[in-house]
Amino acid sequence: MSNQIKSYIDQHQQRFLDELMELLRIPSVSADSKFKDDVQKAAAYLQAALEKVGVDTVEVCLTAGHPIVYAEKIIDPTLPTVLVYGHYDVQPADPYELWDSPPFEPVIKDHKIYARGACDDKGQLYMHIKALEIMMQQGQPPCNLKFMLEGEEEVGSGNLEIFVRENAQRLAADVILISDTAIISNETPSITAGLRGLSYVEVELTGPNRDLHSGVYGGAVANPINVLCKMIASLIDDQGRITIPGFYDKVQELTSGQRDEMAEAPFDLQQYQTELGIAAIQGEDGYSTIERTGIRPTLDVNGIWGGYTGEGAKTVLPSKAFAKISMRLVPHQDHEEITELFTGHFKAMAPASVKVKVTPHHGGQPAVTPTDSLAFQAASKAFEEAWGKKPIPTRDGGSIPIVALFEEVLGLQTVLFGFGLDSDAIHSPNESYGVFNYLKGIETIVLFHHQFAAMKGN
Ligand code: BES
Ligand code: MN
Ligand code: MN
Repeated sequence: MSNQIKSYIDQHQQRFLDELMELLRIPSVSADSKFKDDVQKAAAYLQAALEKVGVDTVEVCLTAGHPIVYAEKIIDPTLPTVLVYGHYDVQPADPYELWDSPPFEPVIKDHKIYARGACDDKGQLYMHIKALEIMMQQGQPPCNLKFMLEGEEEVGSGNLEIFVRENAQRLAADVILISDTAIISNETPSITAGLRGLSYVEVELTGPNRDLHSGVYGGAVANPINVLCKMIASLIDDQGRITIPGFYDKVQELTSGQRDEMAEAPFDLQQYQTELGIAAIQGEDGYSTIERTGIRPTLDVNGIWGGYTGEGAKTVLPSKAFAKISMRLVPHQDHEEITELFTGHFKAMAPASVKVKVTPHHGGQPAVTPTDSLAFQAASKAFEEAWGKKPIPTRDGGSIPIVALFEEVLGLQTVLFGFGLDSDAIHSPNESYGVFNYLKGIETIVLFHHQFAAMKGN
């Protein structure tokens, strides 16, 4: 089985790469309305690609935002059904000047495909369409497949939530399969068993009713930027713990057995620091780096601005200061509750000299996926067969808010079957995806379907 799949991939690899490069050329940035038509073009491209490999039905479903591409290949209603989810929208490519080659003109260099979306998530999503092609060409898929590909993941999946709630019947399946996460390394494959949630807020501080001369008023009137810095600094203490009252109340502590298991994953601190160009790491006392990103909540300023930031010096005591702040959450924190706790605390701690406004952005719940399900075991076996190694379960620090929603609305568990690497630089300039990962991922996905169908059938 594995040999047949491999030889098909060998024979068709150039075309498989060309097709992905074509998709990567479409700048489907969901956050920026300037690219609205391109997002639609990407949807149309996927519709055609699905049609070509031989799905029964495919439609581009319009929403209040960007469309959802939905397709089905039903072999036999009595067979198990796998619902594949992916997102064809990408993050903005800014700052463009930091890219070695233009973000929407993909190139292959050192066995990696460089482009915005190469790994997150066009490359990983397209593997599933090519996996279906192989199954169609080598007989027929051993199970039914449904595809739900959205164009709004990077902006919070607001319309997908509505789509899922309205189409719960149609989306009936046995498991959800998502390739939108990372493995430890190509030498140490892994399967993600948990994702962090997200609370994202924007804060605005207002001091005096206009920008002031910093000499005439400085020292007597509160500077909202100074105040904001102090407030933000107080949100994390010297032990690296977040000071918002109640923030940790619902955090699930892992047992020492679970922590020992996590510690078995290989991690090279020196290499980690070298790759990031840092001389030291930092985080919550009492937790390893893997734990700090996998099972512990965090608070980070994502952007901060105000006053004069142009060329030269302008002496000004600004009227306003702003920041965007994200909190990554772990089970069983609730993102809406955390947003409320933040808002209450942030307003309460502000001095009388400033007014505070807190605006929540999109958020999402954390998710853990079971490691003892048939689907997880099928995924594990597929990795073993294709990579020659049993994959390690891991917890990823990123968020895919829709995973918790799938469980809530559809009652379905997800297998996070990602093949990216942390070094792929998703969301950053020079995002890439390994040609090896792309092709090996396709093979592993085909094997998953066979394993899952066989295990379910018994
Ligand atoms: N694919 C990522 C999430 C991810 C990355 C999970 C790496 C695990 C490992 C996804 O596209 C993403 O970027 N999600 C956003 C959240 C969303 C609401 C904008 C994130 O994590 O910041
Ligand atoms: Mn993604
Ligand atoms: Mn992303």
